[in-house]
Amino acid sequence: MFYAQILTLFPEFFDSPLSCSIPKRAIEAGIVSVDAIQIRDFATDKHHKVDDSPYGGGPGMLMKPEPVVASIRAARDRHPDTHVVMLTPSGARFTQAKALEFTEKSGITLLCGRYEGFDERICDYVDEELSLGDYVLSGGEPAALCVLDAVIRLLPEVLGSPESAVLDSFTEEGILDWPHYTRPEMFEGKGVPEVLLSGNHAEIEKWRTAQAIKRSKKRV
Ligand code: ADE
Repeated sequence: MFYAQILTLFPEFFDSPLSCSIPKRAIEAGIVSVDAIQIRDFATDKHHKVDDSPYGGGPGMLMKPEPVVASIRAARDRHPDTHVVMLTPSGARFTQAKALEFTEKSGITLLCGRYEGFDERICDYVDEELSLGDYVLSGGEPAALCVLDAVIRLLPEVLGSPESAVLDSFTEEGILDWPHYTRPEMFEGKGVPEVLLSGNHAEIEKWRTAQAIKRSKKRV
């Protein structure tokens, strides 16, 4: 079974999204286990302090190294081979190829920060820093959820149709999916491309490939 450990100040953040749809089914089927671990439990001071103001001044608070590093150590104690990923806007961009790479591991540990970020020294204790994109989220949790979701749906046996995996390898090469249509055939005056109604599978395949390439060129 693939495992995911999430180090976070907000374990409850993950409850609802993981209890729906594909992640829910994957967890129920025993394909993946998800443990959200409270970083605050690793703070040893009286007030369980996890953040502090930056040296040199400036706005906001930073995640303190002691509780975060202690939580990483606990994650490594449970799974000595674990791959620890810090979610941060200054990390490398998360991609479909990266999601696929993670499915080849026995599991991952996702470290989520809050406030203005992490004390820089924490970076020495993680294997990789990833960003979801060039925007700042209120914390690493939404990013960790996206990473986890992208990985879960790629795990063997999670998706019903093996064709979905073929599509994924398509997106991996930087080519987007083609446009899709379902019933009704006419919606508010907008029809469905004739070729899709033709029953000619070779032509349909050609059309889809051409559309996917066209879309990919347009969106880069
Ligand atoms: N934490 C805050 N913003 C983020 C982003 N864009 N990606 C990953 N983690 C983040």
